[in-house]
Parts: sequence; C-alpha cells; structure tokens
Amino acid sequence: METLFIGQEKISFETLDSTNAYLKQLCSEKVQAEGLTITAEYQTLGRGQIGNKWDSPKGENLLFSVLLKPNFLSPDRQFYLNMSVCLAIFDALNELSPGFQIKWPNDLLYDRKKVAGILIENSISKNRIENSIIGIGINVNQKEFGNDKGRSSLFNVLGNKVDRSFLLHLIAKKMESKYLRLKQGTQGLFSDYYSALYGYSQAVTTEISGEIVSTIIKGVEPTGTLITEINGEKRKFDFKEIKFLFP
Ligand code: BTN
Repeated sequence: METLFIGQEKISFETLDSTNAYLKQLCSEKVQAEGLTITAEYQTLGRGQIGNKWDSPKGENLLFSVLLKPNFLSPDRQFYLNMSVCLAIFDALNELSPGFQIKWPNDLLYDRKKVAGILIENSISKNRIENSIIGIGINVNQKEFGNDKGRSSLFNVLGNKVDRSFLLHLIAKKMESKYLRLKQGTQGLFSDYYSALYGYSQAVTTEISGEIVSTIIKGVEPTGTLITEINGEKRKFDFKEIKFLFP
C-alpha cells in the first residue's frame, strides 16, 4: 500500500463474524499497530449502526475495518473522526463518478440510495479515544438488492465492475491524509462536510416522532448533533430522532 500506516498490516479472511468484532477482539488481547486493517469476503454477523445488521453477499463488496488511535481527540469530539472518514470515502467515490453525497451522520448516497455505511466503535481511556475501529461496508459489485429500493452499488452507478483492491487502496490513502490533516486541526472540516452533505441548506422531507416534516439542515455540532430549521424554528436532533424520507 502506498500509505504510511493504514493497511500496512492487513489480515484478510474469507469468512468472519464481523471485521469490527474481530479487530476489537485483537485489540483486547494485545496492543495492535495503528492502521491494522481486517478484510472479509463474507460476514456472518455484519454489524450496522444502531444495532442493525449489515448483510452483503460473498465476494462482491468491500467489508473492512481499520484501527486508528486518535488519542488527540476527546470522546466528545469523536464526530470529527466520523466526518473525516466520511469525507475520505466521499472523495474516493466521487473520483470514480461525481454525484455521491453524505447523508448525516455517515452514510454515502448516490441518487438518494445508500452505497456505503460506516460503523465507528471507540474505546475510551483517560478521557481520550484510545482505539477507534473504523468499519466500512461499500456495495461495490452487487447488482441486486431485492425489494430494497434504498440501496445501490458502484456497479449500478457506474455500469461496470470496480476492482475492490484498487478501491481499498484508494480509500486507505484518502483516509490517511484526512486523518493526518485532522491531527493538525479542524480547519476546513465542517465546510467540507457541509458541501458534501445531502440536504444542507435545503428543504428535505424527514420523519420526526412519526410526523412528516420539511426540514432544512443548518449544520452539525462538534458532538455530531444535527442542527435544523423547521417552520422557521431552530431544532436539534441526535441520531435516531430524525429519519430522512426519500421519494
Ligand atoms: C451502517 O449501518 O451504515 C454501517 C455499516 C457498517 C458495515 C461495515 S462492514 C465491515 C465492518 N464490519 C462490520 O461488522 N460492520 C462494518
């Protein structure tokens, strides 16, 4: 890999329960090098956000986890890392084809369909983030999504297959440079995130407490809380409290 540390050490599996769970297990056994990357062709217990499952057919997509050690971040600033990782994937995918967007907090969309998801699991020690397990699932060459109209893949966007190891390299490089930049400070982070964000400064349809409402996204707080405007009033939401509805 043409990186300094991300992916320099890589362990690849045919089948795992979850690359995040496996990396977490390795970290609990002994200190692991920053950048250690675990990939799997298939996961039996792939994890998504908020306890969801992440299902992916064997050998078609990218399923991997990267170990980072952002001890320069306090736990209440972990969202900075989410933004950096999202932007790295955003940059990589837009290099393949422009038009990808970030859906708050950390999904990658194309044409309002989800193409990639990120699950970051942190361990905290002495009010610092010690280990951060960055789990990334990208729908690469999968063609069929059954009845799920909300998901898509790079194949469906580009109309051709993508070399998964090329994409893994590209993302590793982008992630490393965003991460090293974050270490220096947050300059440009919010503005980059906003320019990539679905619904930023625009009215989008959302569901809040069972009600359908038109919402304008105004920004995010350093903690990741979403700042919106609804009927001229400023309102804030945490993950799970607001759902984006796509036609
Ligand atoms: C989401 O719900 O959008 C997040 C999905 C994250 C899935 C990836 S696949 C590789 C890594 N291992 C897991 O078990 N989950 C993440």
